[in-house]
Amino acid sequence: MIRYSFLTPADAEKINLDDLDSLVAQLTASPVKHNLTSFRRFLNQPRLFQLAAFADQHLVGLASLFVVRKIEVKAGLIEGVVVDKKYRRQGIGTKMMKMLIEKARQVGVKHLDLTSHPSRVAANRLYRRLGFHPRQTNLYRLDLS
Ligand SMILES: CC(C)(COP(=O)(O)OP(=O)(O)OC[C@H]1O[C@@H](n2cnc3c(N)ncnc32)[C@H](O)[C@@H]1OP(=O)(O)O)[C@@H](O)C(=O)NCCC(=O)NCCS
Repeated sequence: MIRYSFLTPADAEKINLDDLDSLVAQLTASPVKHNLTSFRRFLNQPRLFQLAAFADQHLVGLASLFVVRKIEVKAGLIEGVVVDKKYRRQGIGTKMMKMLIEKARQVGVKHLDLTSHPSRVAANRLYRRLGFHPRQTNLYRLDLS
């Protein structure tokens, strides 16, 4: 059975950091390895709702909701949606997204934004199935590293 919970900074030490690193590596081509301090610091952000999915004691899914108070509206940004390879296609991604959408509604978020590269077929299907639609806008980044 899969258990879902929103993590607090105090939960950091209950999470196996190898499970965490393995999930992050499935999300990005340039993964960062976490230690207890860096993970606790990540969880300690005031406007973050960090959802986790567990199978037994193992972390098998992650999804983040960042709430942003823009000048005109309270908005939400969904990031870091990932399910461990061995647990995909069991509805975990859908369940986490639905929980984040519900949380966003509860805290008064007016819309949710996310980005997903077209090559991420499963993710794009998942988001569209839940009602997300593409917006006509340019996505910019200034690299400061
Ligand atoms: C996207 C992801 C989180 C989905 O997790 P999941 O737990 O497998 O999702 P679900 O089981 O809820 O499936 C949801 C829908 O995704 C789509 N989907 C899932 N796996 C798919 C695949 N291999 N190919 C095509 N569509 C797929 C389907 O539409 C599926 O619904 P269906 O089974 O009724 O057809 C997971 O595939 C993943 O972690 N991918 C790698 C990381 C990633 O790309 N994250 C998104 C960053 S924007």
